[in-house]
Amino acid sequence: MEQFIMKGGNPLVGDVAISGAKNAALGILAASIMTDEDVLIENLPDVNDINVMLEAIQAIGAAVNRIDRHTVRINAEGISDVTIEDEYMRRIRASYYFIGALLGKYKSARVPLPGGCNIGSRPIDLHLKGFRALGARVDIERGAVSAHAIDLVGSHVYLDKVSVGATINIMMAAALAEGQTIIENVAKEPHVVDVANFLNSMGADIRGAGTDVIRIRGVRRLHGTEYAVIPDQIEAGTFMCAAAATRGDVTVRNVIPKHLESISAKLKEIGCEVVESDDAVRVIGKSRQTRTNVNTQVYPGFPTDMQPQITVTLALAEGTSIVTESIFENRFKYVDELSRMGGVVKVVEGNVAIITGVDKLSGAQVAAPDLRAGAALVIAGLAAEGYTVVDDIEYIQRGYERFEEKLACLGAMIEKVDSEKEARKFQLKVG
Ligand code: UD1
Repeated sequence: MEQFIMKGGNPLVGDVAISGAKNAALGILAASIMTDEDVLIENLPDVNDINVMLEAIQAIGAAVNRIDRHTVRINAEGISDVTIEDEYMRRIRASYYFIGALLGKYKSARVPLPGGCNIGSRPIDLHLKGFRALGARVDIERGAVSAHAIDLVGSHVYLDKVSVGATINIMMAAALAEGQTIIENVAKEPHVVDVANFLNSMGADIRGAGTDVIRIRGVRRLHGTEYAVIPDQIEAGTFMCAAAATRGDVTVRNVIPKHLESISAKLKEIGCEVVESDDAVRVIGKSRQTRTNVNTQVYPGFPTDMQPQITVTLALAEGTSIVTESIFENRFKYVDELSRMGGVVKVVEGNVAIITGVDKLSGAQVAAPDLRAGAALVIAGLAAEGYTVVDDIEYIQRGYERFEEKLACLGAMIEKVDSEKEARKFQLKVG
């Protein structure tokens, strides 16, 4: 089993180039099957979730040509099947985007229902409400969502809760419906805007992405396009927290600083210096950092996907901080692991963490419970004294491209190892 092993205590210093946004790319890849013409997608992150999504696209009959690690050409003319296999949904939740994409194009889709996951129950009722509003018949049969329509017809949809997935999924189906669809109370996350821009580059008519209301005029068909995915806000934020927690000095490059404002604001509040330029943000982690409170919110609020990373950073800041998780109910599972490293964090009512800052963490063997918590434990390990081993790193590899290599370029002593022998070799090497 692969693990990350690291020796902490080194401030991270230098520049790191941020990859394309995983969550934008997942929506874009699903949407790429909505035309029979060639679609070229650039700045794809080379991470496991993306590779699974590409396998799923190939499995239903589309041609997928990986031109290089970050570029793919997709042609969906050969799609012969509107059924997504169970295997893909098990490996990647975002397979639910195939419902909107297939329903829009073929007026028919059969996609397994996603189960719960490590961060909460994660229902998709709002997605289904939207498809029904467009005139689709949606049934749950033998663990799968089956959606069919003679014609999809534009409609008015109000989302009872702001949902990234529901916004993107309904937007995709509505792009090829007849007439106008208005979706209210939508998610404004950068990746929602990116998927809308991508669909528009294929000839869709979507307005208002990035505001609370999206208006879509359905078109008869979509055409081929060439498109580059936006930079990953969460990968960038993760490196920013790593700079803060290790008292380092890191410039994240190829980013859109506006997308990082909520993260920059919190790092400034605790005493870091944050300098923004056109497409980069530099974080200088001062030796004395102080407490703050964080409440996860939908964009432009503080992202839930950055909650574990900021919690680890606050575990090393002076005073008592409170982090409230408002989006998912079960996102503090990593706190027990952090305690093993000397973190003092108490979770009350399931979604509030009370963090008493400590001067130092100490290395330990811990396991990643999910993607972002896994990245946060790596940050903890890099800031801690001594050796840390992080198990279950397949979670981290779902969403971070060459994580350990990028960290090593910033001076981190970290390696991916596959055996006791390799771990010992690393320890001998770093001393
Ligand atoms: C996406 C991101 C995920 C991120 C999350 C919140 C992708 C692939 N994943 O997940 O990394 O953590 O946004 O920014 O982009 N909800 C319902 N009914 C629904 C849909 C959602 O009640 O039909 C609830 C969820 O349980 C959750 C909240 O709405 O409490 C937000 O979820 P949502 O924005 O849909 O998250 P995802 O799209 O699954």
